Amino acid sequence: MTSLKLKTNINRLFGELTIPGDKSISHRSVMFGSIAYGETRVTNFLPGDDCYSTISCFRKLGVTIEEDDNELRIYGNGFEGLIEPDEVLDVGNSGTTIRLLMGILAGRPFFSTVVGDDSIGKRPMTRVTVPLTNMGAKMDGRKNGAYTPISLRGKRLTPINYQLPVASAQVKSAILLAGLQADGVSTIHEPAETRDHTERMIRKFGGEITRDNQLITVKGGQKLNAATIHVPGDISSAAFFLVAGAIVPNSEIVLKNVGLNPTRTGIIEVMKKMGADLQIVQKDDSSFEPFGDLIIKTSALKGTVVEGDLIPKLIDEIPIIALLATQAEGKTIIKNAEELKVKETNRIDTVVKELSKLGASIEATDDGMIIQGQSQLKGGTVSSHGDHRIGMMLAIAALLCDEEVILENPEAISVSYPNFFKHINYLAK
Ligand code: S3P
Repeated sequence: MTSLKLKTNINRLFGELTIPGDKSISHRSVMFGSIAYGETRVTNFLPGDDCYSTISCFRKLGVTIEEDDNELRIYGNGFEGLIEPDEVLDVGNSGTTIRLLMGILAGRPFFSTVVGDDSIGKRPMTRVTVPLTNMGAKMDGRKNGAYTPISLRGKRLTPINYQLPVASAQVKSAILLAGLQADGVSTIHEPAETRDHTERMIRKFGGEITRDNQLITVKGGQKLNAATIHVPGDISSAAFFLVAGAIVPNSEIVLKNVGLNPTRTGIIEVMKKMGADLQIVQKDDSSFEPFGDLIIKTSALKGTVVEGDLIPKLIDEIPIIALLATQAEGKTIIKNAEELKVKETNRIDTVVKELSKLGASIEATDDGMIIQGQSQLKGGTVSSHGDHRIGMMLAIAALLCDEEVILENPEAISVSYPNFFKHINYLAK
């Protein structure tokens, strides 16, 4: 593990950035390219560690995937083209890879084992193994099937009518991928709307899926055909620079080609409510995923309450929203966000612990946190805890600190944003 001295005491961020490809869409482009028939081309693929884990798993399942400068060519042969892997399928740090992959493997007539790193070993898997087992798949794992390593033997699947116990796009997507292989029509009811990239991908690859309020219906046995995918920039990565631009004095940042899928734009809603000087320009709705450019300027912010159905639309942005709140006038309350406890780290604990070290006034609650605003951040030694979003949040916090800040384990950031420090250096030049 290394440590890094972060840039501190920055007086201005200025310039234009092109945000790297969306992680959720990059994973799905590899998966759908692999289960469709023909040659899928993907441009602006995210070259992050998590996405390479997905590529590596599908190569082990017999799929030919070529990569050249963030462009992929995937030669799919349908679900039937996947073959029993000789080795375990290692997803590294990626929750999206493991959960969606299990949905695909559930219907494949062979044996496989999925594993990941220490963080994956602590993340709950029964939320996927329970519905997939109900559909007929055979699965087992540590602690009664709850944790990795998990072994799977795919079976002929029966359709399911399932009420999701948590608002999770990963669980929904795993069931949809199994549902595409089932003998009949499956329905999923989600308690709150979650990111709909899987649904959009099914349509993009020529399949059918319907949504009626919170009820999603998909038919098994559909043939998917290869597609050409351009991955928009990741709003979850853009979020770090949206917040940086709002809280560092004298700043103006233009973020190009950011994905603006309405199931992901909770951060924009919250920042506007807090008074951020944030504009959306050049919005393009013509593609399968909307995108546009964003302009953020230094802003006078006020505290807010973040809760309810908005939580799934900004779940990965809560660490950076917590930092934003430390600079707003008044108190911010984040609630109904207990899912944070089962992310790459327990993000209620890691956010509160690390921001407190820098002098923020922040306390954990059962389902979120309470932040008192207008803190002068100082300095100290902080840690990413191996969580990319905690590492990036702390690097943005450091820009405001008036003493030295050392970040332990900055490598974690390459999971979703390999050029992150290059982009900070460019804006802070
Ligand atoms: C993701 C869904 C979310 C999110 C994760 C990516 C996806 O997880 O936190 O980073 O790509 O479907 P949950 O579905 O567990 O909420």
